[in-house]
Amino acid sequence: MTVLPKAPPAYPAAPFTIRNERAADVAAREALLDTCFGANRNLRTCQRLRNGQAPADGLAFSAVRQGRMVGTLRFWQVSAGRVPALVLGPLAVDPCCRKLGIGRALMKHALAAAAAHGHGAVILLGDAPYYARFGFSRRKTGELSLPGPFERDRLLGLELREGALDGARGMIVPTGRAAAQSRPRLAAKLRKLVPHAA
Ligand SMILES: CC(C)(COP(=O)(O)OP(=O)(O)OC[C@H]1O[C@@H](n2cnc3c(N)ncnc32)[C@H](O)[C@@H]1OP(=O)(O)O)[C@@H](O)C(=O)NCCC(=O)NCCS
Repeated sequence: MTVLPKAPPAYPAAPFTIRNERAADVAAREALLDTCFGANRNLRTCQRLRNGQAPADGLAFSAVRQGRMVGTLRFWQVSAGRVPALVLGPLAVDPCCRKLGIGRALMKHALAAAAAHGHGAVILLGDAPYYARFGFSRRKTGELSLPGPFERDRLLGLELREGALDGARGMIVPTGRAAAQSRPRLAAKLRKLVPHAA
């Protein structure tokens, strides 16, 4: 009698969840971003919109799989040539968990949350072939600029409310609130400039 080898057990892809980012996620998020974008990531033009800023309220998300943070996506409030908008980024998924739909789930969850919070438009700098599947295009970003070098083809927009990017023309600048940890740094800077100040 021939004994057939046992079929290998099927290991279904471990499920993942998307939830709001927590303070305890910081270290894992920073490590994930270093892995995905490299140590020079803080020199990227989009980072200039995020430096010293807190993400838009309620709009920073983590993907968690088997108890480990494996994905991140955040939004930042900006004025896009005087039009209020959100900038999306960074979006990153751990290389060990790609092509499982985590990026898509983060995007869908985050865009729905942004719309639910009443935001009208989202802008990002990224790969058009990836973001087109979520409706992003260059249609209304042609007259917008970023505070640094960028590739025009990668500046993409999505209207969550029809017409929200009409008339968007000019520089994209941050309008969110300052990050909590940037306040002591600011105070230290001020003390250097004005030593007798409290
Ligand atoms: C882009 C990224 C977030 C996608 O995460 P993911 O969890 O693998 O995404 P999904 O599983 O939802 O989708 C995977 C699909 O997107 C495609 N894809 C991934 N990156 C892409 C890109 N830059 N351009 C076009 N398609 C891309 C994959 O080929 C795959 O296609 P398929 O569905 O036909 O197989 C992830 O690859 C990543 O973190 N990359 C490094 C950081 C990065 O580039 N961030 C985005 C800034 S542009």
